[in-house]
This record gives sequence, C-alpha cells and structure tokens, in this order.
Amino acid sequence: MSYPHLRMRRLRRSEGIRRMVRETVVLPQDLIYPMFVVAGHDRQEPIASMPGVMRYSADRLPAVVREVRDLGISGVLLFGIPEHKDSMGSSAFDSAGPVQQAVQIIKDTAPELVVITDVCMCEYTDHGHCGHLTQDGRVDNDRSLPMLAKEAISHVRAGCDVVAPSDMMDGRVGYIRRVLDEEGFTDTMIMSYAAKYASAFYGPFRDAADSAPQSGDRKSYQMDPPNAREALREVELDISEGADIVMVKPAMAYMDVIRGVRDRFDLPVAAYNVSGEYSMIKAAAEQGWIDEERIVAEVLTGIKRAGADLIITYFALDFARTLVKF
Ligand code: PBG
Repeated sequence: MSYPHLRMRRLRRSEGIRRMVRETVVLPQDLIYPMFVVAGHDRQEPIASMPGVMRYSADRLPAVVREVRDLGISGVLLFGIPEHKDSMGSSAFDSAGPVQQAVQIIKDTAPELVVITDVCMCEYTDHGHCGHLTQDGRVDNDRSLPMLAKEAISHVRAGCDVVAPSDMMDGRVGYIRRVLDEEGFTDTMIMSYAAKYASAFYGPFRDAADSAPQSGDRKSYQMDPPNAREALREVELDISEGADIVMVKPAMAYMDVIRGVRDRFDLPVAAYNVSGEYSMIKAAAEQGWIDEERIVAEVLTGIKRAGADLIITYFALDFARTLVKF
C-alpha cells in the first residue's frame, strides 16, 4: 500500500474534535494569583518591570479580590512590602503589617478564596537576605528558623489558610509545622517552596518587592539551576517534615523538575510561573512580536502538562478573563 493508512490528522480535523481529545485543560481553579501589598492607604502603584501588576495597600484589595473570586481562581499568594526594614526583619511579625492587614480584609471580602502568605525575611530585612545574617555576611540557617516561624504564626493569627515558606533554609518546614501545632494551628497548611532555584528569573519581583540582597546573592541557600536529582531530595525532605503541597520554582526552565516531582510523589504539586517569565512575555507582546493570549495559554498548559496541579501566575486574571484555549 502506498498511501498512509494510519492517519493521526483525523484527530485534528476540527475544533470540535481537537477539543474532544484534548489531554490537558487549564482551569481557573488551577490558578493562584500572587499579589504585592504595601503599607499605607489608598495606594495602587504600577510596577515598571511587570506591566499590569500593581502594588496595593490593603484597603484597595477588596475590588481586586472580588474579581479574583468571581473568575473562579482558587486563591491568592501575598507578599508584603513594609514601611521599615531592619537587620532582624522585625516588621515581618507586626500584627498590623501589610500582609496581616491584607489577610483579614481578603477573608472578610471573599472568604471562599484560599489565602496563602509567602513566609520569608528578604522583604523585611535591610540587608535583603532571606534569613539571619551573621557579622561576616553568612546567612545563619538555624538562627533564621525562629524568625520564619514567628512570621508564619503572625500570618496565621491574621487568618491565612496556608503559609508558604520561600527562604530555602534547611529544616524550616519541620520547624514551622511544630510551632504551628504547638500554638494549636493544626489545620493550617504548609505549601513549601521545596525546589526553589537561585534564578535570574526573579529579577522583576525584586523590583516589585524591593527585596534584592544588598550584598552577595542567594546561591548559598537557593538551589543550583543545573541540579534536578537534588530537587527530589529537597521535596522528599519537605514532605517528611510535614509539607502539604510542594512547589517547583521557576516553572518554564524547570519543566523536567515538575515532571520528576509529579512522578515520584503523591502530594499536590505547585509550579511558580515567576516574575521574569511574566515580564518576558509582556515585553515581547508590547513589541507586537508574539500573540500574548495564545502564548500565555500555551505556557500555562505546558506547565500543567508537565505535572503541576496548581500554577502560581501573574497571568491568572488575564487568563481566567479570556480562557483562550488553542
Ligand atoms: C522571596 C521570594 C522571591 C520570589 C518569591 N518569594 C524572590 C527571591 O527569592 O529572590 C520570586 C517570585 C517571582 O519572581 O515572581 N524569597
């Protein structure tokens, strides 16, 4: 026989057929929207390197989170930008801090939304590192743990559902779990940034959160980008310490890691489509070089196809508004 009798193209003949056999569909409920909260009142400030993303003061959140809820997005992930920073990051545990206020306002406005708080010291320390800095400039793992636990407890007291430690100190999931349990917060979940790489893709975030390290870099605590087996070890440890959801971050350059974690473990897997991934697409779209809606749908679908159950993305609102497929 000379003609091709095995025809794959039958499955692609019409949109109806393609839709019927589509293997992966991203739904609004797969998405978590990250938000930056600043101190003060009536503030809504654009972030130059992240077009379309704002920093809001807590009192300006209700309108946005109502839309997030109405679009069917599962939750929000909050980052705080405090008024004052010091070497100990003490504003991280201020019960009237931006994140603590935001949690209460969001829970009052849209109680259905899952409220997740990022737990890290880098937004609150004047040196910009994610934990306690010694005199000689090293980040001290074990002295950072009580600071992180104190921050987590302060977010939980404000009413968040999930704490998400993003500092990459060893043992922090176990430490935070123990302190949460001792304080009676046994129902609070921990979503750990389990495999978080020392990535250049965080550049725009550090502008947005004003959290760039003032000296050195984060390579002694965040993971080395070439390592994938090490990510499995990180995830395994975090699960053994009590993580409820494990995260891989960034997403696009780490799809193999997402797949590896999905294949090896049974817990929900989140992937963080980070600031640099967002800004690259926005910049190219502004130039008219790419079709933003289709690129976003393709990227988010790819992340889900790689194995992520949840996607943390600054595109959550844009995507849920249009729900462009292919
Ligand atoms: C805090 C933190 C960072 C991000 C999330 N939590 C920055 C960093 O580690 O430098 C990055 C998020 C993004 O780029 O969108 N440690």
